[in-house]
Amino acid sequence: MSEFSHIEYPIQIPYHLRVYFTQSAFDVGNPLFRDLACSRESGNRRKALFYVDEAVAAANPNLATQISAYFDHYSEELRLMGVEILPGGESLKNDNGRLNRIYADIENRKICRHSYIVAIGGGALLDTVGFAAATAHRGIRHFRFPTTTLGQADAGVGVKNGVNFNRKKNFVGAFAPPFAVVNDFSFLKTLPEVHLRNGYIEAIKVALIRDASFFDWIEANVDALNAFEPEAMQSLIHRCAEHHVAHIATSGDPFEMGSVRPLDFGHWAAHKLEQLSEFALTHGEAVAIGIAIDTLYSQEMGYLSASSAERILALLQKLKFEIYSDHLERRNGSRFPYVLEGLEEFREHLGGLLTITLLKRIGSRFEVHEIDTDVVLRAMKRLKNLS
Ligand SMILES: NC(=O)c1ccc[n+]([C@@H]2O[C@H](COP(=O)([O-])OP(=O)(O)OC[C@H]3O[C@@H](n4cnc5c(N)ncnc54)[C@H](O)[C@@H]3O)[C@@H](O)[C@H]2O)c1
Ligand SMILES: [Zn+2]
Repeated sequence: MSEFSHIEYPIQIPYHLRVYFTQSAFDVGNPLFRDLACSRESGNRRKALFYVDEAVAAANPNLATQISAYFDHYSEELRLMGVEILPGGESLKNDNGRLNRIYADIENRKICRHSYIVAIGGGALLDTVGFAAATAHRGIRHFRFPTTTLGQADAGVGVKNGVNFNRKKNFVGAFAPPFAVVNDFSFLKTLPEVHLRNGYIEAIKVALIRDASFFDWIEANVDALNAFEPEAMQSLIHRCAEHHVAHIATSGDPFEMGSVRPLDFGHWAAHKLEQLSEFALTHGEAVAIGIAIDTLYSQEMGYLSASSAERILALLQKLKFEIYSDHLERRNGSRFPYVLEGLEEFREHLGGLLTITLLKRIGSRFEVHEIDTDVVLRAMKRLKNLS
């Protein structure tokens, strides 16, 4: 007789990761949101509760009125339960009390599992509201409207959300594919330059790990990207989002149960740098430095050619990213700078073996499970001299 018995059924849940590209989504002439919201089985009018990034609301003072007019226009099918404004940026993810207030709104507005939560804002707002939506009532369908280049190209089009805890990035979060993502390019018109630029870094990242011809395209379009020409930006966002979504859907590990996370190339140092700078460095700025470190590390270890490393650093600098920060030098009394703690925190966050993505060519990556900290220090020193 066996020592245990067990019952087992496979459960397969089909998810669809859908990203739409449009302009002026809440113009009554644009039926996209209505069509998506009403695409499920028919029933009562669809309730929706909106959360809008404060900076987006300030830059688009008519947005709440426009959303309200949109719902009036489609009042037979849609019901607006409120438009709430939340502060944007990383401070939102650091303010854990904010989550309770979102849960209270959801309770008070009687948002149920058949309703929608709609988040309009930067990656930080999408991460926070997405987490609240994923956990209230054990999951409410949510729409994401990323309003930054980084959000439209990367942060907003994935399946992850989360908030910081004790200033540790994304310590609390969930994997919860959004009901749909709508990239409305018209929101980018009011985005400050530093944030317009930040999205470029995730495009460079995805090009480095997956697509050499995309890297060539970014190089060839540097001037248009530096001038923030809408056509170039939209192409970059579209291609980056496509890679991001394709990776999640086809890598075989959408919820990151394994240890390999190529989309986090350059991120082990970046997350620590954001924290060390008290979030004065934006995610994009920190990732640029993280990519520069892992590029030179790849070269120092003999995996990547010197000419490829030079090309990568040159592109970062042509797109006006800093490749070094004084925060890299801050030390905890020993000869090792704090930033190296990022390696262990990265491993802890993933669990299991330390797994770091490196480059063997532009467009081609591989993983290592050990990092030689002396070589990292050497790479950082070279970046200081180059910057
Ligand atoms: N979930 C994921 O898979 C994922 C992936 C990458 C990054 N992220 C997270 O995303 C966050 C970074 O996102 P981000 O780069 O979008 O920055 P952000 O959310 O911090 O927004 C940047 C600033 O721009 C303002 N803003 C946003 N849209 C605007 C607009 N259209 N006009 C004017 N101002 C606007 C915001 O209020 C904020 O002050 C980080 O917390 C990062 O960890 C998440
Ligand atoms: Zn990132």
